[in-house]
Amino acid sequence: MRLHVHQSAEHLASALAQNTADALARNPHTVLGLPAGRTPVLLYRELVAISRARSLDWSRARTFSLDEFVTPRDSSRQPYRQFMHDHLLAHVAVTPALVDSPNGRAVDLDAECDRYERAIEAAGGLDLLILGIGANGHIGFNEPGSPPGARTHVASLTAESRAANAWLFGGRIDRVPPRALTMGIATILGARAIVLVATGVEKAAAVAAMANGGVTPDLPASFLQSHAGVTVLLDEAAAVQLA
Ligand code: GLP
Repeated sequence: MRLHVHQSAEHLASALAQNTADALARNPHTVLGLPAGRTPVLLYRELVAISRARSLDWSRARTFSLDEFVTPRDSSRQPYRQFMHDHLLAHVAVTPALVDSPNGRAVDLDAECDRYERAIEAAGGLDLLILGIGANGHIGFNEPGSPPGARTHVASLTAESRAANAWLFGGRIDRVPPRALTMGIATILGARAIVLVATGVEKAAAVAAMANGGVTPDLPASFLQSHAGVTVLLDEAAAVQLA
């Protein structure tokens, strides 16, 4: 994996937003896989600004969200879908039919996972997948112990991951759903190019283990070592434990 350390999270976001915009300009049909979370907030802000400044054509781009919480069927909220709308998709002229995310309110969750895999495949696969990383080394919601062969599936969340997502639920860990739908490791590794973004010292140990440790289900991000097209973008704080 190629590692790049930027002097700040802002510089990192700006560089990745430029690269993503360039990819979209080169190929308006680009199929993007996109994460929610705190880390990409700056990225999406920059990407919206660049898209406006360059009048970038998003109308033919396809987007697939990385993951989503399982919420009650009568719930009005799909938290990550809402996040993607608020931070990116409401501000660029995407075609709604080309925007997809795993439906965490589906009646049959396994059937929804199959539908999602087929939709990604029918789109021709992911050209560019952007990932964050959990402090425990998870990617998407592939928690420690996740098998490398898994495709989109229902995942049980660790207490640590629920705590890390409490900010989306008014700071209440007890309101964070215990399950989520997530692209599996095999879905992720099927992307043609992957960019993993990590900022802040709380990600430093996971980043070092991902880049320098062995490949193990105990640290799902380590499976990225087996993919030839992975770029890791870090701020200085997230890079402090690298050898
Ligand atoms: C979350 C999400 C991931 C995200 C990662 C890092 O729990 N499941 O999609 O990339 O963990 O999140 P954050 O950027 O908020 O630290």
